[in-house]
Order: sequence, then structure tokens, then C-alpha cells
Amino acid sequence: MNNFEFYNPVRIIFGKNTILKLSKLISPDFKNILLVYGGGSIKSNGVYDQIMNALAQRNVIEFSGVEANPDFDTLMKAVSICREEKIDFILAAGGGSVIDGVKLIAAGAHFEGDPWDILAKRGKVKSALPFGTVLTLPATGSEMNSGSVVSRRALGAKLVFQSEHVFPVFSILDPETTRTLPVSQLANGIIDAFIHVCEQYITNDVSAVLQYHQSEAVLKTLIEIAETVMGGFDYDSRAAFMWAATNALNGTVGVGVPQDWATHVIGHELTALYGLDHAVTLAIVQPGVWQTCFEAKKAMLARYGRNVWNLSGDDTSVAHLAMEKTDEFYRSLGVLTTLSEHGVDTEKLPIVAEKFASYGYNPGENSDLTPEKITKLLNSRI
Ligand code: NZQ
Ligand code: ZN
Repeated sequence: MNNFEFYNPVRIIFGKNTILKLSKLISPDFKNILLVYGGGSIKSNGVYDQIMNALAQRNVIEFSGVEANPDFDTLMKAVSICREEKIDFILAAGGGSVIDGVKLIAAGAHFEGDPWDILAKRGKVKSALPFGTVLTLPATGSEMNSGSVVSRRALGAKLVFQSEHVFPVFSILDPETTRTLPVSQLANGIIDAFIHVCEQYITNDVSAVLQYHQSEAVLKTLIEIAETVMGGFDYDSRAAFMWAATNALNGTVGVGVPQDWATHVIGHELTALYGLDHAVTLAIVQPGVWQTCFEAKKAMLARYGRNVWNLSGDDTSVAHLAMEKTDEFYRSLGVLTTLSEHGVDTEKLPIVAEKFASYGYNPGENSDLTPEKITKLLNSRI
């Protein structure tokens, strides 16, 4: 196992009727609260009313319209509101996009200079406004981590930043809020959480046995509950889904192990290029990364095949079969895993490799996915 440090200060409030705890969770010292949400799902599923009831005695200013794949230009409007209205606490209500957006708003409100530098130039975040979250879509783990992914459509960009200053103070996880999720978003959430674990588990084998078993527990949970989750509202399976998705990316399975993230960063470029949903890009790219890095990943792919899919045989055949099982799993959720099935213009694919050449780094746990390999990998996914 590799050396590591672990820090995660997020208070989780999990279960039914927990949104009403907001009045106690947000200290009365905070006078001006900015409620940030997306396109309106919280209004149709009662989450908005629950929040407003809980905060009836407080000064709440609203900012709505944060897009799926939150856009930098939209978020900057909220940064201006924070400054003008002397906002001292932000509440994010929604999925990963709203939460990630709030992370940039919180950091941007304190940032000296252009907040785009936080993303584009790795500008150091020295402090941020405190914020809490009400999660309505299990998927990203953003409710319990310090990462944020922000798009800037005007520049064709989708970039990541990370800072200890943007851990939420608290996150409310009420599985009841998922009642209104369409099946496409449920499938996205299952796949995103699944691939978060894969990015931290199917890498170089460093004998981190506990983390491997924890990873396998999350993957097996997602496989076990998927059909029930997709089939309608069942509280216990939604609860298991929500907690599994949080555990997939709250840092625990990733300590002391090499991490990959190639599928994610290449997937982000496909979202920037074609507007495909985050999880859809992952399901397309992952088989290409696994094939390209097969020798380096073979030991862990075989372990995954045996312990998650109950396969048997020699390492090479189990690893290949495990890849097939994974693709079948994503397809069983209704997600199409090749580019042509999404009808995108594949002539534009070389742009992805050009982006990585300009960033000046090669993704992957062994930093070996060169721009040439990325182009080849994507061509294999047409
Ligand atoms: O905008 P509203 O109206 O709320 O609708 C949303 C949105 O259209 C809807 N939705 C959310 N909760 C709902 C609901 N509809 C009905 N009922 C509910 N309870 O779902 C749509 C998608 O929401 P979004 O927040 O975009 O989805 P998700 O949670 O999958 O977030 C995706 C974003 O997170 C980033 C992705 O790149 C993408 O930008 N990621 C963030 C990570 C992190 N911070 O650690 C890691 C991930 O790998 C990922 O990259
Ligand atoms: Zn993801």
C-alpha cells in the first residue's frame, strides 16, 4: 500500500425528513443565505418547499438556472450576487452540477483576480464561502469531496479544480428526493459511481487489500441494486444507491492506491465536444482505456472479474470476460457504449488529443496515454 493522508470534514445527514434539519445546520450567525439550484427539478419534487419551510425565518436569496455541466459564465453571475448581497452561506440543492457550480461560486467569491484562473491556470484557492448541500441525484460524490468540474461552453472547455476549501460543511442525503429522477439519470448515476470506483481500483496492484474489498463492496452493491433502482421507487435500494455513490468518491477507496482518471478526463473532452452526458462519455471511453492499458491493468482486471463477477479461469481470460460483463452491465441500463450509436461527428475526434497535447500531460495511472494513444483509443470506440 502507498503512503497516504486522509482528510474529510463533511458532516453527512442521511435519511427521510432530514431537510427540515437545515434550520439548525446553518448557524444563525449566517445572515444572508444564497440558495442555488438548477433548472427547476427541486420545485417539482417538493425539495424547494421543504428547504423554504426549514429556512422560513432566514434571509434566503435564490439563484436558479445552473445547467447540467455547470457553465462558468452562469456561475459568475452568482459570484456577483454573493458580493453585492453580502452572502455569508450558500446552499446547493440538486445534483453534481449544482454542487460543483456552488464550489466554484464559493471559491470565486473570495478569489482575487479572474476566477477562470482557478480552473485554467490552477490558481490557488486560499479561502471560500462556506456552503452546504441537499443532494437530489446520487452519482458524482461531489456532496462529500472537494472536487468540482466546470464547463465553459464559449471556449469549448470542461475543466476540474480541487481545494480543501470547497468541502461542503454538511450534506443532506434524503433518498426520497430521488423519486422524480428519470431512468436516464438513474442509469447515469449508477454508471458514474461504478466508474469512480474503477478509476481507483483497476490500476497498478499495490496490495491494498482493504481498499480493494471496499471497492468491490461498492461495485457489488451497485450491480445488486441496479434493477430495483431502475424499476421504480423502492426506499431501501435508493438508500443503498445514494450511500454507495457517495462512498465511491469520498476518498476512502482511493487512499494508498494509484489512481487512473483517464476515462474521466477523456470523457470530459467528449462532453465539451459533443454535449454528451458525463456518465455516457465514461461508458464509451472506459473499454478503450482498459484495452489500451491491458497489460498494466491485467492483474486488477482479473481480481475484479473473480471477486465482482464471480468468474474463473486464468488472468487473461478472466480480465477479458470482466470487460465484456462490464459493457453488458452498462447496456442493461439502457446506455449505448459506442460513439456511432450516439450519432456524433467522429471527424472531430482528433480535437481531443490536441487538447491533451496543449495541457502537456498524459493521463492514466502510469501517465502513458499519449495524444497518439488517445486518438487510437477513441477510434476504437466509434
Ligand atoms: O437542473 P435540474 O432541474 O435540477 O435537473 C437535473 C439535471 O437536468 C436533473 N435532476 C437532478 N436531481 C433530480 C433531477 N431530476 C428529477 N429529480 C431529481 N431528484 O438531472 C439532470 C442532471 O443533473 P446533474 O447535476 O448534471 O447530474 P450529475 O449529478 O450526474 O452531475 C454531473 C456533473 O458532475 C460532474 C460531471 O462532470 C458533470 O458536470 N462530476 C463531478 C464530480 C465531482 N465533483 O467529484 C466527479 C464526477 O466524475 C463528475 O465529473
Ligand atoms: Zn464521474
